[in-house]
Order: sequence, then structure tokens, then C-alpha cells
Amino acid sequence: MKTVSDVLTNISYGGDYNPEQWTEDVWLKDAKLMRKAGVNLISVGIFSWAVLEKEEGNYDFSWLDKVMDMLHDHGVGVCLATATASPPAWLSMKYPDSVAVNQYNVPYSFGSRQHYSPNSPEYRSAMVRLVKKLADRYKDHPALKMWHINNEYACHMSECYSDYSLQAFRKWLLNRYEHIDELNERWGTNFWSQRYNSFEEITFSGNSPTLVNPGQELDYKRFMNDSFLELYKLEKDILREVTPNVPIFTNFMFEFKPLDYFQWAEELDVITWDSYPDPREGIPVAHAMQHDIMRSLKKGQPFFLMEQVTNQVNWRDINLPKKPGEMRLWSYAAIAHGGDGIMFFQWRQSRAGAEKFHGAMIPHSSDETSRVYREVKQLGDELKKLDSLVGARVPAKVAIVFDWENWWAVELDGKPHNKLDYLDHVKSYYQVFFANNIAVDFVRAGDDLSAYELVVAPMLYMIKLGDDKNLENYVDTGGTLVVSYFSGIADENDRIHLGHYPAPLRHFLGMYVEEFVPYAEGKTNQIVHNAQHFSCSTWSDIIRLEGAHTLASYKDEWYKDMPAVTSHSFGKGKAIYVGTEPEYDYVNQLITTLAAEKNIEPPAEGPPNVEMVERNSDEANHLIVINHNEDPAVIQLNSNKNYVNLLTGGTIQKEVSVEGTDVLVLRCE
Ligand code: GAL
Repeated sequence: MKTVSDVLTNISYGGDYNPEQWTEDVWLKDAKLMRKAGVNLISVGIFSWAVLEKEEGNYDFSWLDKVMDMLHDHGVGVCLATATASPPAWLSMKYPDSVAVNQYNVPYSFGSRQHYSPNSPEYRSAMVRLVKKLADRYKDHPALKMWHINNEYACHMSECYSDYSLQAFRKWLLNRYEHIDELNERWGTNFWSQRYNSFEEITFSGNSPTLVNPGQELDYKRFMNDSFLELYKLEKDILREVTPNVPIFTNFMFEFKPLDYFQWAEELDVITWDSYPDPREGIPVAHAMQHDIMRSLKKGQPFFLMEQVTNQVNWRDINLPKKPGEMRLWSYAAIAHGGDGIMFFQWRQSRAGAEKFHGAMIPHSSDETSRVYREVKQLGDELKKLDSLVGARVPAKVAIVFDWENWWAVELDGKPHNKLDYLDHVKSYYQVFFANNIAVDFVRAGDDLSAYELVVAPMLYMIKLGDDKNLENYVDTGGTLVVSYFSGIADENDRIHLGHYPAPLRHFLGMYVEEFVPYAEGKTNQIVHNAQHFSCSTWSDIIRLEGAHTLASYKDEWYKDMPAVTSHSFGKGKAIYVGTEPEYDYVNQLITTLAAEKNIEPPAEGPPNVEMVERNSDEANHLIVINHNEDPAVIQLNSNKNYVNLLTGGTIQKEVSVEGTDVLVLRCE
């Protein structure tokens, strides 16, 4: 099996292309323009099912043949999509049960996209037939570089309550628990008289009077995740058999809760994802975090930015364009965090349909002197100089524990605080590393942590079998672990780990939590650390020490002077517990102190809002500098080595200046 960097040895550059929206004369113009813009990879066919199979079993690949040939003749490779993301009208009409049903038992209507039920046998068999046809037809086509399966699974429609889905859910539960008594035990169904005699008695809880059994809710989320993953695997198996050497993927999304991408990543040859930062947010820190998560899904293997927009999307309330230079800057940010491909939605702006005001590489005007096209071409020209980055990795000594099932569990109802936002809380730690230019990987609590000097486990509410031992072993063997409030509370069925919270982590944290104190909205308190005062909000744990010592204590309220942040030496390492939501300055101080103790340093020194990330391979080490400021910045390099500026060609030593809204890609000589 070839890896993606064997197949694509340059930084990939291009976007989604929908030639079926255009006449043939436009195709030729497009192919020429692509070449001119430095495009080397194009995704074709993502929403083409209705034109590939106009009636059941009546396939027409003639137009796609021409497009594939034309792209190949112009030196453009193809990510060929399997076109299964949006079934045609005839399919939904002929097989009404293939359509997904919402939680109130209403089927989705046709006329938009992605309306199919993942558990419909009719959808599945039509899908399998189409994928087989595509695989057989294009298996030897020289333009075929990768397979793009479906599109953004579960986007728009992540829950289906159809009869097919219910039958599949019961089967899924039977498979997981084998006996109904086991399910009753795990779900705790003696509560509120929820006991089941058989799997057949289980129904969906979409229209329930009040809170639903949390074990059931969690399993439903797992089941839907697995339903979509099963679809992906069905397609993947066909493609793998016919084209064993063509990499296969589907595209992931930003902060997407319904799918456990760590689980999915095992089935993908390369991670690709779609990133649409809102220009209103300023520096896209949240997107940097997603880049790092995406890179971490396959343990540091570079990802592809599969979609972004050149200037503006059309699906926010108000769609601000990226300012001149921002598209380029944010593309380099993706590369810095581990991107080997920079792609757009889409190549040519649509004339009709729901996305006609969504930006593209070629705007409605087709004007080659337009700002958008000029920026597209400039980036395309530059990326040709960056071959040595392909396959290079981001070295990280820090990891943040991130877990989809934990995300699901922590945000289910019925908690002491029902406005906790797991991602926001994770970001409150991530942003400190981001601002200090310390590279971060994301891991699961059960992963091998031995490569990391510092691990942060924010709000790790769910501790699964073995996670506690893994974290304990990490600390015992010399790691520094930071755990924050509402961690170590429940098992994988959302049943409490009995004993004092956080029971499974308590002995190596050297403390326990006696009570939770969620704060009313707007309320703050203070914590005192070495006579310095910092604000805190959201939550306070009432902490009792069992060997740990206090780093910071609360200033006010009935728990005044009690510990808020603790530290415990355990084995060769130490475990820190943060029992509240401190302001940024405190998290920054705490984290940078812990990082300094472990000699974790940024790769260079510069002013605020300048990102600096290393990407290294056996052949070359790189430093990528991204100046998010409008003013120029001066960077001090940490080594005495010579660096080559890959974009401009000059040589640099010790100090270098970078213009405002500009980047440097430096290769160490
Ligand atoms: C993505 C999707 C594309 C396009 C794009 C617009 O979610 O994959 O097909 O709709 O959004 O931003």
C-alpha cells in the first residue's frame, strides 16, 4: 500500500470541481486556468449521483470520462468522489424508506442534500452498485490520485429515527451487551422504572417528556457514529479491493461533535478536513486547534485542508470576506500545523443553486485580474517551492487529552452545571500553548503518552477502563499531568465512579472533591497564588487534600482559603489539579511554569500574534513563521544555524523580520 506522500510528492493545491454545472467549453477553459494557477489536484463528482445515474441502473459516465481525460492532459490529478453524499430524487421517491426521519418521526424532504438514512438497505445497495461501477471504470485512469468517499458524513443530518435505524439500533445493542440484563445493569434501568425485558422493547427517545436515560443517550450517539462509519467502510472495502494502491479518505469537519474522528481515522489513509474560520473572530485559534487535532488523529501524519474559501462563505448570517492576504496567511497556518494539501470549496463559483454566493477560486466574473484569482495564483506559485515539507512532522512535547465520547457525556443534561462547554474548556488550555508557540498533539487518555513531557486532561469526565492506570503510569514514570475540574466522574455508561470524586484518579492526584459549586452566570471569585490574585468563574470544587499541597486557594465565599489548585508529587512525576475555571493569565502562568520546568521552549522568539511552528523530516527541518499582525515583526531564531527562505530564496541567521500579514517558510541548512 502506497502512502499519500508516495502518491502526491508536492504540496497539493486545488479544490472541489463541479463540471456538471457547466458546459464543455467551460471545462477546457477551466483546465487551462487550473494549470496557470498552479493547481495540481481537483476533487470531482462529490454531488454528481443524479447525473451519473439518471434512472435506476442507467449509468452515464461519458461526461466524467471526458473531464478525467482533460484534467490529466493538463497535468491535474483527481480525487475522485464516490458521489454518494446526496442520492437522486428517483431514489428517494421510489424507496421512501431510504430517507432519514427526524426525532419527531417526520421524514426529511427532498430538494436539499444528505437526506438519506444511513441504515436504509435501499440506499446502501444503490450506493454499493454506484461505487463498484466507478471503481471498475476509473481504476486504471492515470488522473486518479485518491478516492474521496461521500462528503462530510453526518453534516446536516447526524441522527436518524427511522424504522430501519431502530431495528439497527436494537441489533447494535444486542451485539454490544449480548443479554438484556447486562444492558439493564449498564444503563441503570431500575431508575424511573426503565427496565427492559428484551431488546425489542427498546424504542427511540426522541420525543420524551423529560430527561432521557444517559446510558441510552450515549449509546445512541455511538450507534449513529457507527452507522455512518459502516457506510464509509462498505465503500472503502470496494475501493480497496479494486484499487489497492489508491489512498482513500472522507472529509472531516470543524468542531464536529457527532462523529468520533479518532475511531474513524483508523479507516482513512489520510485525514482531510474542511476549515471555514469566520473573519470576525480575528486570529483563527480554534482552527489552529482543529489542525492540531486533525494531525493527531493519525499520530502526526500530515493532513489535507480539503476545503476552505477564497474570500467569503454564504451560510453565516453575515458573510465577511477574508481581507487581502488572509487566505494566504491561513493557508500557511494549515501547512504549519501539518497540512500537506491546500484545497478550496470550490474551483468555479456556481451560477445557480444554494451556494451561488459562496466564494470560489474563479469568481462569477471569471476575471483573471480579480483579487481572488491573483491571490489564488500567487499561492499556487509559492506552494511549488515547498516540496521538502511534504510528509514533514510537527515535533510536540505536549499533549492535550481529547475524547469524543467524553464530549458527548459531559454535555448530556442533568449535570450540576448544564452550560459547560467541553471544547471551550479545552481551548482555554490550548490557547496558552498557541500563544506561547508550544506545539501540541491531541491524544486519548488510553494512548501511549511516553513521548510527552507535559499532558493536560481538561474536564475528563469519563474515565474508561484502563484510562486511570495509563494516566497514573504516565505520572509515575516522570510525566507532569494537569487535570481540571469535573474529571474522573463517570464510566463509559455514564455511571458514577463511586468513592470520593475523582475516584479513579484520586490517589495520584493526592486530593479529592467533596462538593461541586457551580456559579450562577456572571458570578466570579478569585484565587490566590503566591499572593497574586486571579479571577475565576463557572465552577469551584471543594477540595480536600490527601498528600497534595495547595498552589492556589479561593479568596471569597464559604470555601474561602480552601484549595483551588493543587500539586502532588507521585512516583517520578507530578499531578496538578485545577478545581475551577481561572482567567487566562493564571492558566498562562501555570502552564508556562510547568513547561519551563520540563525545558519545553518555543522554536524562536517574537512579538505576540506571531505563530512559529516547526515541521521536520529526515531530510530537512523547517520553521514556519506566520505574522497575524498588520505590522512587521522581528524574530530571533534559537539556533545559530543558517536558514534558507524557501519563498524568496535568501539566507537567514539569528534574526529575521517578517512583514505584517506575511509568512516565512525557512529551511534549516
Ligand atoms: C462544505 C461542503 C461543501 C460546501 C461547503 C460550503 O461543508 O462539503 O460541499 O457546501 O461546505 O462552505
